[in-house]
Amino acid sequence: MTARIRPATDLIALADAAAVLQRGGLVAFPTETVYGLGADAFDARAVARVFEVKARPSFDPLIVHLAEAASLDWVAVADDARIEALAARFWPGPLTLVLRRRPELPDIVTAGLDTVGVRVPAHPAARALIAAAGTPLAAPSANPFGYVSPTTAAHVAELLGDAVELVLDGGPCRVGLESTILSLAGDPVILRPGGLPREALEDALGTRLAVAAPSDRPLAPGQLQRHYATRTPLAILDQKAKAAPAGRERVGLLAQGPTHAPGFAAVEVLAPDGAVETAAARLFAALRRLDAMGLDRILAEPCAETGLGHAIMDRLRRAAAREA
Ligand code: TXA
Ligand code: MG
Repeated sequence: MTARIRPATDLIALADAAAVLQRGGLVAFPTETVYGLGADAFDARAVARVFEVKARPSFDPLIVHLAEAASLDWVAVADDARIEALAARFWPGPLTLVLRRRPELPDIVTAGLDTVGVRVPAHPAARALIAAAGTPLAAPSANPFGYVSPTTAAHVAELLGDAVELVLDGGPCRVGLESTILSLAGDPVILRPGGLPREALEDALGTRLAVAAPSDRPLAPGQLQRHYATRTPLAILDQKAKAAPAGRERVGLLAQGPTHAPGFAAVEVLAPDGAVETAAARLFAALRRLDAMGLDRILAEPCAETGLGHAIMDRLRRAAAREA
């Protein structure tokens, strides 16, 4: 099977995609963060196919996507005033809340946990698709497990083309980094930095938030040390690159902003305009391009760890982590 890419603005494509989901198939769809690989969250067999296609370890729970916050009761127990406040402020948007789950949700979605990760994506095509399907969608990022998340429909087709029936093309993802995951199941804790800056959550909750340390026995496998990896070894520089290291290696540079560093075999500039939002939106596509060049090594410049800079450095550190 080779995936068909169809425009997300085409209403017939949208209706076809909803029909695929209703009969237990998989659809890749755009969100504002990254592309998702969706299945009907209440269809355990369809969800099982998601794990199969991603070659994803079964201990890894999926995020459930809703068309609107009002549907939250379908999948989670929303008995906490903080939930309503956060939903009102940040949904639709790049925030996943980990909450107590409803027992009706198949175990395979939550990997047997008694919590569920939920979000309302901001991309209009994602919400239209969920509404048309008439069911919440369990959807991980549409990449094979452990690899860089796709931020265009072409990336998805390249990575999973033979395994999904339909890819809805909603253009390049605006945010470009996965959602921030906040657990409210116990004391509030950020399980994964992402497209919503920690500072915004702290401001809304009126409290400082802990960020869970990456570990190999994770609550959220997005916390796995080596994740978001390129196939080419990647290292993070201490500062802005001045020149490529001497030697015969072909080295690629991931620069945060405009650069004149000589000697690199390839250079990707994340933010020509210097804006961290631009860097975030372009990060995964830039890593993917460098990775496709058959380089010996990739060197990445660091960025300041404020706002979205947290999530960018988090992804770079994971890409750089050596296999245990
Ligand atoms: O932006 C995003 O979140 C994208 C788009 C498609 O929505 N999705 C995404 O899904 O990044 P995925 O599966 O690649 O990453 C979801 C992360 C995983 O690390 C998973 O372990 C964690 O969310 N997660 C999901 N449910 C959880 C739960 N109940 N408790 C703890 N972590 C959970
Ligand atoms: Mg992922």
